Amino acid sequence: MPAAASGPDFWVLTGSRTPAKLGPEAREMIALAEAGELKGRRVLISGGGSGFGRAMAIAFSAEGALVAVGGRRLDRLEETSRASGGKVWGIPADVRDPAQVSRLFGLLRERWRGLDVLVNNAAVLEPAALAGCPLDSWQAVLATNLTGPFLMTQAALALMGPGARIVNVTSGLGFFPMAPYGAYCVTKAGLNMLSRVLALELDERGILVNTVDPGVGRTEMNPEAQEPPEKVVPIVRTLAALPPGSPTGRFFKKSGEEIPV
Ligand SMILES: NC(=O)c1ccc[n+]([C@@H]2O[C@H](COP(=O)([O-])OP(=O)(O)OC[C@H]3O[C@@H](n4cnc5c(N)ncnc54)[C@H](OP(=O)(O)O)[C@@H]3O)[C@@H](O)[C@H]2O)c1
Repeated sequence: MPAAASGPDFWVLTGSRTPAKLGPEAREMIALAEAGELKGRRVLISGGGSGFGRAMAIAFSAEGALVAVGGRRLDRLEETSRASGGKVWGIPADVRDPAQVSRLFGLLRERWRGLDVLVNNAAVLEPAALAGCPLDSWQAVLATNLTGPFLMTQAALALMGPGARIVNVTSGLGFFPMAPYGAYCVTKAGLNMLSRVLALELDERGILVNTVDPGVGRTEMNPEAQEPPEKVVPIVRTLAALPPGSPTGRFFKKSGEEIPV
């Protein structure tokens, strides 16, 4: 396979239409997308009962998007719905379970007929050194953080047409190793590659797939962090509303800065 760093070969290798660096293209993309409409778009956010997902759901519904949130705890989903003034639709579903994922998308199909945006945000963090990581913990983290987005994306694609957008929520630990978070690091690195391959596969269908590293935020996963979870909303909103022809298979920090991969 060619190893050129620019031109069509680069596109084949990375899924990007332009080299992955923060340049005028990325800035232009953000500017373009700021004009993109989220109003009226049908958005599903996994893990929307808390943290970043909750913040996105409330903000997107306030902007006029139709928003559904998934998660295991009904009381948390109901709280997100209440906080949105009753606009957000909570649908209990465990992303690890194909039957629950199928039920979730069956409900979306019945009510919305289609889906415009999927945000794969749900994840768990279970600290354990790989050397002693219990198999059930390893499997739970992989099933939630990696198989979950795989199942959700497959089901979502059956409802998506040209113009749909997928935003995956990764972590800095998907790029840089940190102990004792081995399983989590592995899943987020896997999610990064899932995003890049999907971007390649789906480009001809007019579906763009981009990824956000939200950095630290004060959520159930990271209660000691200072930054409020709302800080991640603008970049996810931007990527959810990208106009046709925008880049795909790219990675962004919450500041909007592109992460070269
Ligand atoms: N906070 C940070 O500092 C930070 C840093 C880097 C990346 N991230 C990423 O940001 C994303 C959101 O996390 P957060 O920080 O907002 O933490 P959070 O508040 O714990 O949110 C995670 C959400 O995922 C849901 N979830 C977990 N397992 C699930 C399953 N099997 N099926 C469906 N939903 C499930 C949880 O709801 P239920 O328990 O009700 O299912 C919860 O609402 C994650 O992808 C995380 O890896 C966070």
